[in-house]
Amino acid sequence: MDHETFSAVDEFVTANLVEHDEALQGALDAAEAAGLPAIQVSPPQGKLLQILARLQGAKTVLEFGTLGGYSTILLARALPPGGRLITLEANAEYAEVAGASIERAGLGEVVDLRVGPALETLPALEQEGAGPFDLTFIDADKVNTPNYFAWALDHSHPGSLIIADNVVRNGSLGDAHDADPATKAQRALHETLANESRVTATTIQTVGGKGYDGFTIALVERA
Ligand SMILES: C[S@@+](CC[C@H](N)C(=O)[O-])C[C@H]1O[C@@H](n2cnc3c(N)ncnc32)[C@H](O)[C@@H]1O
Repeated sequence: MDHETFSAVDEFVTANLVEHDEALQGALDAAEAAGLPAIQVSPPQGKLLQILARLQGAKTVLEFGTLGGYSTILLARALPPGGRLITLEANAEYAEVAGASIERAGLGEVVDLRVGPALETLPALEQEGAGPFDLTFIDADKVNTPNYFAWALDHSHPGSLIIADNVVRNGSLGDAHDADPATKAQRALHETLANESRVTATTIQTVGGKGYDGFTIALVERA
C-alpha cells in the first residue's frame, strides 16, 4: 500500500463522514494563503478529537500547538456552552492567522490563545490557577511532548484525557537506535508511561493523507 491509497481513503472518509464547515475551511484557506505549513490534523483525525471531547463532556481543553487554528476550532466546536479552550502557540505569525480564523468562527470568547514557547507560557497559566483540564491535546514541538505530558498530568483530574499526536513518526518509535531527538522524546514518553500509575494509556498507529504516524491516548485514573 502506498501514500496514494491512504490519501484516497482519507478523502472518501472525509467526503462521507466529515461535515463541511465554512469556518474550518476558512481557517485552512487563511493558513495556506499566509504560507503556514499544512501540518494540521487530517479531517478524520480532527473528527476523532471532536468525538472524544464530546464523549467525555469536556468543558475545559488545553492545546499545545495552534498553527492556523484548525484543531483549535474543531475542539472548541465540541464544547458545551460556557466551555473554554486554552491554546499555546510559539510562532507569533501563526498565532495571528489562527486568532483571525478563530474570531471568524465565532469562537473568540471560547478560545484563549497564548503566544510564546509553551514552556514559557505555562508558568503564567500555573499562576492563574488554570485547570484542571478535561482534555489536553499535545501537538507542538515534539521534543517537548514528555514535558507537556507531565504538565498536563499535573493539571488533570480523574477521567481527564491526554492525547499526544505524532508519536509513531513513520515507525521510528519502534527503533531503539533512532537518533532523532523527536523520536527519542516519544520513546521517553512511553517509558515514563510504563511506570506512571496515574494513567491508563495506549498508542494507536495511523495511516492517512498525512502518512504513517500515530497518537498516544491516556486516561487519567488518579490526579
Ligand atoms: C503540528 S502543528 C499544530 C497543528 C494544530 N494542532 C492542528 O492540528 O491544527 C505544531 C505547532 O506547534 C507550534 N510550536 C512549535 N514549538 C512550540 C513551542 N515550543 N510552544 C508552543 N507551540 C510550538 C508550531 O509553531 C506549530 O504551529
